[in-house]
Amino acid sequence: MKHLPSRGKKQTMKVIRSIKAMSGFSSEAAAGRKIGFVPTMGALHAGHVSLIRKARRDNDAVVVSVFINPLQFGPSEDFRRYPRDHASDAGICRAEGVDVLFCPSAQEMYGPGFRTFVEVKGMSDVLCGRSRPGHFRGVATVVLKLFNIVSPRTAYFGAKDAQQAAVIKRMTADLNLPVRIEVLPIVRGPGGIALSSRNAYLGDNQKEQALCLFRSLREAARLVEAGERRSSRIKESMRRIISGCPQAETDYIEIVDPRTMKTLKSIGGGKCLVALAVRVGGIRLIDNVTLDVK
Ligand code: PAF
Repeated sequence: MKHLPSRGKKQTMKVIRSIKAMSGFSSEAAAGRKIGFVPTMGALHAGHVSLIRKARRDNDAVVVSVFINPLQFGPSEDFRRYPRDHASDAGICRAEGVDVLFCPSAQEMYGPGFRTFVEVKGMSDVLCGRSRPGHFRGVATVVLKLFNIVSPRTAYFGAKDAQQAAVIKRMTADLNLPVRIEVLPIVRGPGGIALSSRNAYLGDNQKEQALCLFRSLREAARLVEAGERRSSRIKESMRRIISGCPQAETDYIEIVDPRTMKTLKSIGGGKCLVALAVRVGGIRLIDNVTLDVK
């Protein structure tokens, strides 16, 4: 058990690049000690830090993965451009007491002859999946591989990617994976902007315009609070707010069941997810709020 520090003890963080070494670390941890896992694509920010801190509090060892997964990007998407800063990511992980930073290469994860994919049907082709075909197949496939390699007791995801969290929960239940999924609240910056690695692409003016996502969600919450139950009316008001921002273009605004991603024509009698994707100056941003309507 020499690689596993006991809680609170300062240890040097390992940077592991091979699947064999990562699995080796995890099998040493298997004797009743809990591994908390935070899968990421790097460019770590305060949202990731909130996940790492929760993992640190609740587990004996914390593993963070940084892997920019080519499978979840479409051909015209930002795979090549996606922010990469190993030194900053490693510094953050070290400061947060992470035990292992797992950074495999694409060749390591998808060796020659790779042919197996995971598809969570019915939840992957709506909302973000409609404008990003194949995205959730890529996410589910890599997350299952990472779970098998890291063997976590609990894996932590952010609520900003609500559809991703729902897809992963479904996959975990359907495939009887021995992993608990915890979803932590969205961390917001000034004006309510949801923190995202892609915010790094935004100029100052675009950051200002990007606040229309949060403003439209606040408006949705206000309307519901005032008694509105018709999804169409709520979406209409949100759309009006977005169209007031010259650089913003709505991809979708949807109100769905947060577990199944099925569209809700009217809300009430439980939780609903109000989710939207908007391009601001060509940068695709997502945000959401879950409302509990009795
Ligand atoms: O949310 C992300 O950063 C990615 O989609 C994930 C879960 C690490 C899979 O590549």
